Amino acid sequence: MPSQTLEQKTMMDPLEDPAVAQALDRNLALDVARVTEAAALAAARYMGRGDERAADLAASTAMRVALATVPMTGKVTLGGEIDPSEGLFHIGEAVGDGTGRRVDVGLTPLEGATICAMGAPNAAACMAVALEGGLLAVPPIYMDKIAVGPGVPEGAVSLDASVTENVRAVAKAKGVPVEALLVCVLDRPRNEDLIAEIREVGARITLISDGDVSGAVSVALAESGVDMYMGSGGATEGVLAAAGLRCLGGFLQGRLMPRNDDDRAAIAKMEIKDPSRILTMADMVPNEALFSATGVTDGALLRGVRLQATSAQTSTIVMRSRTGTVRLINTRHDFTRSETE
Ligand code: FBP
Repeated sequence: MPSQTLEQKTMMDPLEDPAVAQALDRNLALDVARVTEAAALAAARYMGRGDERAADLAASTAMRVALATVPMTGKVTLGGEIDPSEGLFHIGEAVGDGTGRRVDVGLTPLEGATICAMGAPNAAACMAVALEGGLLAVPPIYMDKIAVGPGVPEGAVSLDASVTENVRAVAKAKGVPVEALLVCVLDRPRNEDLIAEIREVGARITLISDGDVSGAVSVALAESGVDMYMGSGGATEGVLAAAGLRCLGGFLQGRLMPRNDDDRAAIAKMEIKDPSRILTMADMVPNEALFSATGVTDGALLRGVRLQATSAQTSTIVMRSRTGTVRLINTRHDFTRSETE
């Protein structure tokens, strides 16, 4: 789309813009924000109660109820269970009120169920929406990922390059010494070699115990202080983070990491031609996307839910890739009033 001046942009009637006819309804972004808010509010009641399954179920149930009012003909293509499991979303599940465009929905109603159950930081409710076919369906296996923010040109880093080469390339692109870089990595034994090499080259690391959608997306948010995300995490989370980065302007590469025959069989069921190749942003989120996340517990960007006797406050980031609009929404929810009043 040719760029417009602010004046042209604000004067144009959106309904006269031919591009709008091919687009996701822009108001869908606000509906999607309500959906992640609902999931976060439900999950927050289980913070620190040691029951991750209950927290996950509460978030999923609330998300499903909220989704039922959203004007879209949606299908869960990412983030659900392969086999229907009571209360949780499953792949292929219809969501939305059945009106509006056909869309793919990727979700993790409670990213970081374990950390929510422990009352630790960084749990969030996340969701992405794209027009049908716009979110790569990946199985629930691991993915090796590298993500950088908008200051780093695409092609500067690659999963085919060494960790040392990638760290040095990001430092060069940002014009900072390697020692100033902050790399976010999921704290897992399988990432030990990566962590050792990052330390060896001299960059700083922030290890997260869970929640790598937020970790990967944080590379594009200056206030997070994170310059790169690297390492192995969930594949679903990789595609969701790619949707977030499509909105924010950074990029992410992923490579599926099957560990056994079950993982390979799961990949074979998906439309992924060469499972060993690098998946780019264009593979994972080829077109326009919406992304929303609401904090459940406090994180680098989002505040966790604050619960009071009859109200609560939530903190949400919701964004659209078409316009690059990023909204940070602090919402007060009054439990004494309802929509049907
Ligand atoms: P859950 O919310 O499903 O617990 O996922 C949390 C998470 O930390 C993801 O952010 C991450 O991608 C994945 O788990 C890593 O998987 P594992 O815990 O098996 O290493």
